[in-house]
Amino acid sequence: MHSLAFLVGVAACASQVAAQAYTWKNVHTGGGGGWVGNVIFNTKQKNLAFLRTDIGGAYKYAPATDSWIPLVDWANNAEFDYWGTESIATDPVNPNNLYIEVGLYTNSWDPNNGTILKSTDQGATFTSIPLPFKVGGNMPGRGAGERLVIDPNNNNVLYLGARSGHGLWKSTNAGLTWTKTSLTATGTFAETPSDTSGYNSDPLGVGWIVVDTTGPSTAAGTSRIFVGVESIGSPSIWVSTDAGATFTAVPGQITNYLPHHGILAPAEKSIYVTYVDESGPFDGSHGVMYKYNITAGTWSNITPAQAISDNSYGFGGISIDAQRPGVVMAASLNQYYPDAQIWRSLDGGASWSTLYNYSYPPPNYQLAITRDYTWDISVAPWIQSYTTDTKQIGWGIEGLQIDPFDSNHFLYGTGLTLYGSHNLEQWDTVHNITLACLSQGIEETAVLGLVSPPTGAHLVSVVGDIGGWVHDNLDVAPPTLHVPVWGTSNGIDYAGNQPLSLVRTGGSAGQLATSTDGGHTWTQYANAGSLSSGKVAYSANATSIIWTPGSGVYVAKNGGAFVASTGIPSNAIIATDKSNDAYVYGAANGRLYVSKDGGATFTLTNVLGSAQSSNGIAVNNLGKAGELWTTTEHGMWHSTDFGKTVIGFSGGLTQGYAVAVGAPSTTGGTPSVFVAGTVNGVAGFYRTDNNSGSWSQIDTPQFRFGSVSGALLAGDPRIYRRVYIGTNGRGIFYGN
Ligand SMILES: *[C@@H]1O[C@H](CO)[C@@H](O)[C@H](O)[C@H]1NC(C)=O
Ligand SMILES: *[C@@H]1O[C@H](CO)[C@@H](O)[C@H](O)[C@H]1NC(C)=O
Ligand SMILES: *[C@@H]1O[C@H](CO)[C@@H](O)[C@H](O)[C@H]1NC(C)=O
Ligand SMILES: *[C@@H]1O[C@H](CO)[C@@H](O)[C@H](O)[C@H]1NC(C)=O
Ligand SMILES: *[C@@H]1O[C@H](CO)[C@@H](O)[C@H](O)[C@H]1NC(C)=O
Ligand SMILES: *[C@@H]1O[C@H](CO)[C@@H](O)[C@H](O)[C@H]1NC(C)=O
Repeated sequence: MHSLAFLVGVAACASQVAAQAYTWKNVHTGGGGGWVGNVIFNTKQKNLAFLRTDIGGAYKYAPATDSWIPLVDWANNAEFDYWGTESIATDPVNPNNLYIEVGLYTNSWDPNNGTILKSTDQGATFTSIPLPFKVGGNMPGRGAGERLVIDPNNNNVLYLGARSGHGLWKSTNAGLTWTKTSLTATGTFAETPSDTSGYNSDPLGVGWIVVDTTGPSTAAGTSRIFVGVESIGSPSIWVSTDAGATFTAVPGQITNYLPHHGILAPAEKSIYVTYVDESGPFDGSHGVMYKYNITAGTWSNITPAQAISDNSYGFGGISIDAQRPGVVMAASLNQYYPDAQIWRSLDGGASWSTLYNYSYPPPNYQLAITRDYTWDISVAPWIQSYTTDTKQIGWGIEGLQIDPFDSNHFLYGTGLTLYGSHNLEQWDTVHNITLACLSQGIEETAVLGLVSPPTGAHLVSVVGDIGGWVHDNLDVAPPTLHVPVWGTSNGIDYAGNQPLSLVRTGGSAGQLATSTDGGHTWTQYANAGSLSSGKVAYSANATSIIWTPGSGVYVAKNGGAFVASTGIPSNAIIATDKSNDAYVYGAANGRLYVSKDGGATFTLTNVLGSAQSSNGIAVNNLGKAGELWTTTEHGMWHSTDFGKTVIGFSGGLTQGYAVAVGAPSTTGGTPSVFVAGTVNGVAGFYRTDNNSGSWSQIDTPQFRFGSVSGALLAGDPRIYRRVYIGTNGRGIFYGN
């Protein structure tokens, strides 16, 4: 679902560079914009809760504002995979202790082993504890859990369920060191065993652990623990009565589904399990729910009647109400049509009611939905942009939690955002709750393109999965997504001489649209043909569109069809001159190419030292024709004569990625230039005001933006020092 470009860490060494006192803030969208895995409530301290995302880090609940505070924005380039969040544990004995299990991928995309981020002050500060295996916060099966749990009878004891056949691990010293347990079942299910990338072929592993506090315990901790492993065709639920020393399969269990979640209902001395036939979070075509009576050692099928007759989706998130024994809620994992379903039972799963009903009444047999809730998306009104869709409740629902201190408060994560309610108990009376988007503070898009034109809105963005926005006000959630809504939008540009003219690409064949009102409305481009995704550039007078889909460079003139450009490598990155309609610049493999005919034909003009790769290209956006900058793995080059000659940038920039041009310090002065790269050995984000290679570092200890090579930049041509940084999973930031 999400892209990743990465750079392996750079050793820190002393920097000669001045640090700038930037203040960083998220560009506000209010609605998350990505998958929320689970909410983890502390069971001792009211209102202490945490939330995990797949590529955008962990958050902490702020009850006063009913919003969420990011906890891992300090992750730097070497720590880019700390935003992949596999599991969270908050200590039921000492609520100050917080453990976050991080890592993005178990295959080669992430070179690093996983990490436990441990905090003893509820997330204000962390120490990093390396794990001896990889962790897959953005892998299939990431919704299972929780994979990391703390023993309430001895909070020095933690259990961790690993992927990739690594099994179940235990720590007896509060997470500092880990030992593999004897559990031989390691969770062998893989989504697509033949996937040579290693992404879908990796075994999902150990999915969840239940520490059974209703059973015996010693000073060493709780004796009985249950473990769910992601396997089909062999026992998936195992029990130990000696604190993880030995295990046996729980008798009488089904083996034809994957147990995504197992949760303890202490008052009922029971375990509830949701089962699905696939990995999740965005698949699953069947499933069931079971309840295990620990005393009797018996299983009951508690699948809701409706789900037995029409179940094409499986079950995801499940929660009990800690204050009301017998109250339990569960969600469909992926019922894509007409909408996800949420069930609530007051009698321990014997009977269930639903959040909405649907039918196909005669005479037309058209879908009729009776929704037993009021839908409130006021924090992120753009969610309404999915007008052609019947879905409100969501999809990919793996985490659903009733607040252990407040029976009226529940939350659940979806593929898009976080929903919940503060009047949940009305379900049992008037059967009509307020189902609200409660994602304020969560910003987790993977940003794919940014422009800051000199007129109109200061920022127009394109992002993965949901498209992107026009931000007339950076601190206010926009009213709508880009329409047509395509899911992922990949590229965006504006025409320099008529900056309200924009072009954007989408992820499927023929998805190209133009705008003449600064991105507020878009028109499908009639001659888009079958090209898809990739980046796009608009010539200064909007006469040429240059499209670089995955491979190749194509140009369309005056509304015509796309034809291949000549004289330029297929992996080139492109930028148009922002003042002269004819000039288009391309960079590839450490070489600079120039077109004088709007992108139809290119000529090689410069070989940039010994550079082999071209990473970024930016042009003057302040009305001066012919000035450009381009970055490589050996630094940056600058031209002021339409690319005819270039000058290598002096100074400590040894490696450059995204580059952007912004307003000068004085009107008419030298533009400021922003770069993501390595200066004097330190990977980060930098600005120069006099084109000199005299760099100021603009990222700060609290905001390092993760992967430097994966970040995007746009300089604001109207506000000196203002730059927008697009991240891979934490949305867009702006700095002042
Ligand atoms: C990951 O852990 C394994 C096992 O301890 C070790 O052999 C390997 O070198 C580690 N990999 C990295 C990149 O640290
Ligand atoms: C579990 O089984 C025991 C023994 O049969 C029974 O007394 C108890 O009520 C059952 N618990 C639940 C929650 O059904
Ligand atoms: C939904 O269907 C159930 C079961 O038939 C019924 O009890 C309930 O009243 C219905 N709700 C609405 C709002 O129609
Ligand atoms: C639920 O309440 C809202 C707001 O009061 C109302 O508009 C809606 O019709 C109600 N739904 C049902 C099924 O009663
Ligand atoms: C492009 O637009 C500029 C400014 O409006 C104008 O001066 C110039 O003549 C135009 N160039 C072409 C090739 O149309
Ligand atoms: C650029 O600006 C910096 C910081 O103000 C200054 O130290 C440096 O001398 C300037 N370089 C040039 C070439 O003007």
